[in-house]
Amino acid sequence: MHFLRLAILTLVGHLSMVLAKKGPITVAYVEVNSNSIDNTARYQLADGSNVFDIAIIFASNLHYNNSHATWYNNPNVQAILDKAAAEIKPLQQKGIKVLLSLLGGGTGKGIANFASAKEAAAFAKKAAYQVHTYGLDGVDFDDEYADYGSNGMPPANAQSFGWFLEALRKELPDKLITLYNIGPAAQYLSEGNATVGGMLNYSWNPYYGSFSPPAIPGLKKKQLGAAAIAIEGTAVDTAKKLATETLQQGYGVYLTYNLANGNQSDYVGAFAQVLYGQSTKYVPFP
Ligand SMILES: *[C@@H]1O[C@H](CO)[C@@H](O)[C@H](O)[C@H]1NC(C)=O
Ligand SMILES: *[C@@H]1O[C@H](CO)[C@@H](O)[C@H](O)[C@H]1NC(C)=O
Ligand SMILES: *[C@@H]1O[C@H](CO)[C@@H](O)[C@H](O)[C@H]1NC(C)=O
Ligand SMILES: *[C@@H]1O[C@H](CO)[C@@H](O)[C@H](O)[C@H]1NC(C)=O
Repeated sequence: MHFLRLAILTLVGHLSMVLAKKGPITVAYVEVNSNSIDNTARYQLADGSNVFDIAIIFASNLHYNNSHATWYNNPNVQAILDKAAAEIKPLQQKGIKVLLSLLGGGTGKGIANFASAKEAAAFAKKAAYQVHTYGLDGVDFDDEYADYGSNGMPPANAQSFGWFLEALRKELPDKLITLYNIGPAAQYLSEGNATVGGMLNYSWNPYYGSFSPPAIPGLKKKQLGAAAIAIEGTAVDTAKKLATETLQQGYGVYLTYNLANGNQSDYVGAFAQVLYGQSTKYVPFP
């Protein structure tokens, strides 16, 4: 009896070890205006683990309303969040972390031009509200399209994103906070100190088809994505080459954009084979 229990425990132990794949994590942005976030759960390695470790809902927008920065979800984004039990929870149960990305909204206000720590903290509460309300694993920031300086708004400043990150880390001590390394928010962070940069969990290269690690003080190689590919735009040979460089240079993240609907196991399998030394299967989900 004891022997049997031991045998079962040993077997379970081995199975869970096998499922914890080795190597860099793979991140997928999904343009949810036209694609399903479920796509991230449909690529499985031979050992049963997921190709994609982080699924990013792309994207919410920062708007400006009645003199306040507001977190705006378009109807496609909001529909996923409203159905979190069916759209987000099952991914998490499969071991995939689900993040919501915030993009500028063309209002002149963005994460890089808060005028004070107080204004940044008020918006951090709105970001945290999204995470708590919809049971997300965290938030991602993409500082494009804010149109800083328009509509009478101030230009970007060096302190804004740091103020925001400090406040957000207090709101979300254990959640993932990630940065697509672009725009003034990223620029000022790279010129700042390790205490502030280290409040992020990960940051990645925004230029698809290239290999260029973010230079953010406070982040280690394991927290950086140097390789970035666009699944529908980067040649598969380039995707494989960037996967090889990721391994050779010891970076912890491989970034992909936009995991569109349908069976793309030829392409996904090509880079996953390099990253994980295993074949990929396109599987039904849920
Ligand atoms: C803008 O402000 C109004 C009034 O406070 C509120 O009803 C509305 O929901 C806000 N819109 C957004 C996108 O936050
Ligand atoms: C994210 O980073 C924070 C700050 O370093 C850390 O406390 C937290 O454990 C990290 N979260 C995850 C899920 O890695
Ligand atoms: C890092 O920057 C923050 C925010 O500007 C500041 O409060 C802190 O004192 C700085 N830390 C160091 C070690 O310079
Ligand atoms: C997905 O595509 C691959 C490669 O074209 C093919 O071998 C496989 O059978 C397809 N899987 C499904 C479930 O359609």
